[in-house]
Amino acid sequence: VTKAIAPSKIILSGEHFVVEGEPALVAAIDIYAKCIAEERFDESIRIESKDYFGKIHVIKYSKNKIIDYAGDKNTKRILRPVLISVLKTLEYSEQKKGLDIYINSEIPPSAGLGSSAAVAVATSAAVIGEIKGNINKEIIWKAAFEAERAVHKNPSGIDVTISTFGGLILYKKGEKPNFIKLDYKPIFIVGLIGKRAKTGKLVEKVLKLKKEFPSIINPLYISAGNLTIKLVEALKNKDLKTAGLLMNINHRLLSAIGVSTPKLDMIVNTAIKKGAYGAKLTGAGGGGSIIALVDESKLEKVKSSLEKKIKKVYVSSIVEEGVKIV
Ligand code: MEV
Repeated sequence: VTKAIAPSKIILSGEHFVVEGEPALVAAIDIYAKCIAEERFDESIRIESKDYFGKIHVIKYSKNKIIDYAGDKNTKRILRPVLISVLKTLEYSEQKKGLDIYINSEIPPSAGLGSSAAVAVATSAAVIGEIKGNINKEIIWKAAFEAERAVHKNPSGIDVTISTFGGLILYKKGEKPNFIKLDYKPIFIVGLIGKRAKTGKLVEKVLKLKKEFPSIINPLYISAGNLTIKLVEALKNKDLKTAGLLMNINHRLLSAIGVSTPKLDMIVNTAIKKGAYGAKLTGAGGGGSIIALVDESKLEKVKSSLEKKIKKVYVSSIVEEGVKIV
């Protein structure tokens, strides 16, 4: 029996713009997807998953067919990417094995925190750990990326990368992760606003806007890319005032490309008004979550004001480790 955990993520700048090749800054945080894998005596694969709300979904995959045990109309759709992660991991490891998979995720789904990627990464790691005895991050990345592609067609790979490797990464599509080291721990408040539209739909909507008005939208991409580079500099220099200001600008760029909502704007503004260095939506937008960069002295004030307005508030810092066997 092998157990793996993979962290969720917050994007500090550059979501959406990253899909078209601009750099983005992403951090792993300490909310985890957990997966246990156990070899079976036959060649079928059974997946049992308990989500953030405590709901259980079960499928069995045998002789190229999926059997749904939960009888929920969403079960197959929800567990298909997990199954892809398992099958691709077996394929890339050149193994043919049957497995029982148990997933338990602490990460709220559809919240912009990379829950689907973290589940796919934890699953691949548990599978490879179970059949090989140790993990291979290259295979995990590739298998989880295939799973992500099944969920949204055009992922940049940022979510899978951060869940696999952890830490703080300056990410550019198609390039090796560039790890950024800080000699202090910035504090982030993560505020859960609520469910949102599907990532794939939001990505498509943004790309359509870019295609329709290239002379207006393309400069925003360049601006966002430059902003990410400046943000890295500010964080490295521990200039949190500038970092916060840049996050605020990033939020407005995201709003300009149509992925903010009145509620996201309202919560971002509340965080700033109560003393955060800066705040922005994080992830695909259209609902989901916000992050605020705060000083320790302002933490309680910002946190309690957000708690009055939204469902769930986390206090997080960057976790250095990516997926691991525990
Ligand atoms: C999702 O976490 C980030 C997006 O930029 C999509 C992607 O990069 O695949 C919205």
